[in-house]
Amino acid sequence: MKTSCISVRNSVDNSEIYSQAVDLLNEGEVVAFPTETVYGLGAVATDDEAVKKIFAAKGRPSDNPLIVHIGSIEEVSYYIEEVPETAKLCMEKFWPGPLTIVMKAKKGILAPSVTAGLSTVGLRMPDHPVALNLLKELKKPVAAPSANKSGKPSPTKANHVEEDLQGRIPLILDGGTTGIGLESTVLDVTVTPPAILRPGGVTREMLENVIGEVLQPSLSELNQKETPKAPGMKYTHYAPNAPVFLIQQDRETVKKAIRQLQLDGEIVALIAPSKFEDLKANFFFSLGSNLIMEEIGAKLYDDLRACDKTNATIILATATSTDGVGAAIMNRLEKAAGQKWFQIHE
Ligand code: TXA
Ligand code: MG
Repeated sequence: MKTSCISVRNSVDNSEIYSQAVDLLNEGEVVAFPTETVYGLGAVATDDEAVKKIFAAKGRPSDNPLIVHIGSIEEVSYYIEEVPETAKLCMEKFWPGPLTIVMKAKKGILAPSVTAGLSTVGLRMPDHPVALNLLKELKKPVAAPSANKSGKPSPTKANHVEEDLQGRIPLILDGGTTGIGLESTVLDVTVTPPAILRPGGVTREMLENVIGEVLQPSLSELNQKETPKAPGMKYTHYAPNAPVFLIQQDRETVKKAIRQLQLDGEIVALIAPSKFEDLKANFFFSLGSNLIMEEIGAKLYDDLRACDKTNATIILATATSTDGVGAAIMNRLEKAAGQKWFQIHE
């Protein structure tokens, strides 16, 4: 299959581009498109055959459910049995935006593969002109996971999608670099108090201001459950080719670690604040100088992917604070590292 990548940024023929995407989706094909978080790989959420193509293209395990994207709050009632008050408050405050709300699904409406056998479904209204335009023209719900090969970092640029899915999907809509760069917050409102299954751009603090107490279980707490609440959490994720280790954001510790690894013959890539650049790692990817969490989030996946273009044999990533969006960044770093911390041997 030939993959076309079309820019929708400055194009004058936008309507033609959208009709091409809409036609493909209506024919049961998959299309990659930008959202404000990461690129998604979409299919019509009521078409089971089409949704199965998403799993095939990504190599995604079939027991990991997909998020359904909708173009307005009004559509929620088509898919949800009973919309809890907390969900309504969150939609009013945070939609369109990077918040997926897990609720009890109406039976028999969405394709069975979307929910992967669960009785719940995650809905989200994305805040991106291309995604919203596509949903408006299509007039159908779109099931879309991140448009990466399963296990790779989510794509924040159209060429990341090409790297992973070239030849496996017919069309990529290129809307430039996505703004947030980390996947949406997944909030389960079927439990009391509501629980964050995946931290993201809408933080626990922001949610608590609107709906009161919200739980944020750690990665290991989510994994301990026999049936994971967020099925996606049990898989290794966001992993570059070389093993990733977390390390304290401390100059002496990082310096020692690099020296020790290089003496052992390792080639070290370091992802750290810019002031660590002089520590002589073989490759350095800066998290910026001011440690603004939103900026780190926007760049993180690009850095993890860039590590794959080096011949590094090990990647060290410095830990960040877990305040605000920091919780989402540390969650992704922990997953990339399989929760491994680098241990210096004395
Ligand atoms: O920002 C995003 O959310 C992006 C863009 C494309 O919208 N999408 C995305 O989808 O990240 P995906 O499939 O890569 O991640 C969806 C996560 C998975 O961890 C999945 O297990 C969880 O949401 N999830 C989906 N439906 C669920 C449900 N009914 N109950 C619990 N977790 C669910
Ligand atoms: Mg994903």
